Amino acid sequence: MFDLLPYNTFGLDVKAKEGIIIKQVEELALIKETKTLFLGQGSDVLFVSDYDGLAVINAIGGMDIVKIDNHYEVRAGGGLILDDFIKSLLTYGIFGLENLSAIPGTVGAAPVQNIGAYGCEIGDYITEVEVYDLDTKRLFTLSHDECQFGYRTSLFKEQKHLRYFITHVNFSFDAQFSPNLIYPGLKDEELKDAMSIRNRVISLRERKLPDPRFVGNAGSFFKNPLVDLKTLEKIRAKFPDVPVFSQDDGTYKLAAGYLIDKAGCRGITHGHAGTWEHQALVIVNRGQAKPHEIVSLAQYVAAEVEKLFEIKLIPEVRIIGKDGEISWDQI
Ligand code: EPU
Repeated sequence: MFDLLPYNTFGLDVKAKEGIIIKQVEELALIKETKTLFLGQGSDVLFVSDYDGLAVINAIGGMDIVKIDNHYEVRAGGGLILDDFIKSLLTYGIFGLENLSAIPGTVGAAPVQNIGAYGCEIGDYITEVEVYDLDTKRLFTLSHDECQFGYRTSLFKEQKHLRYFITHVNFSFDAQFSPNLIYPGLKDEELKDAMSIRNRVISLRERKLPDPRFVGNAGSFFKNPLVDLKTLEKIRAKFPDVPVFSQDDGTYKLAAGYLIDKAGCRGITHGHAGTWEHQALVIVNRGQAKPHEIVSLAQYVAAEVEKLFEIKLIPEVRIIGKDGEISWDQI
């Protein structure tokens, strides 16, 4: 058995049948097992049981930087810790990812969810993703468009691409610094350089989000739901201050944390699971929680939100069962 406790930030005591830590691309060719699960730090997964297959841990490092005209091209190993990577970029004077500071996880996991925060999405900076397909034993490169980045999603989440192991991610950054200060907490004239934006983001995160080194969690548990105008108006009639973000496709994104909060579920505790006092969208392990306790807390929260708002929340975290990823309805 392979211990998954260090590879899931929820801090659940779960195991895989086997595990392998990949430091070099060549090692991937040795994998024979057909049931595999790729993990970095496991910062966006919820194990609902032990995993009956091979956990493949991405520990491929390395970072190459080339400056071409007015931009930097950077190739980074999928196993690098994302925040270490962002910090290194800033020390080299390369800007763009500072708004994503302190997000747990690895470089290789970042494109899968197209992680985003504080007005920035990583997919906007990714030019290519290099993958090894465990089925065909081929290394190849996907272009930005082929990755199909969307809100917390990409091609890498599709069932037929679950055997694409991300070895390296390629980025392009403008040499000219242009701060992204659209998020309300970043509208501040003192934020003139990337390092001060990074520091502000870190302090915003510290105020709102639990640090998984101390309190098990996987960040936002649910996605922010998209609704049509009719639903929005109905909700606004009762909750005029509901935070809303208009989308290009005519839909409206609502803050799931607000809905959960209004449904009376901020800071609650059921058994060893709960929601975070300062951000209701984060489900936490209050210590020694079992997978089923996290699941039933999440189901309770979703049911309370549905009762009040008639909106079905969908998890943002990926749910992993005995045989691999499962959908919320399959639990
Ligand atoms: N809100 C409440 N009560 C709560 C939580 C939030 O009223 O308990 C309100 C806030 O006051 C704010 C709004 O809801 O007006 C939005 O909250 P916040 O700014 O914290 O952002 P979010 O939409 O809840 C998203 C991402 C986070 C990211 C933040 C900042 C998703 C699912 N989550 O959260 O990402 O850090 O924006 O950009 O898109 C993650 O993905 O793991 C994650 C933490």
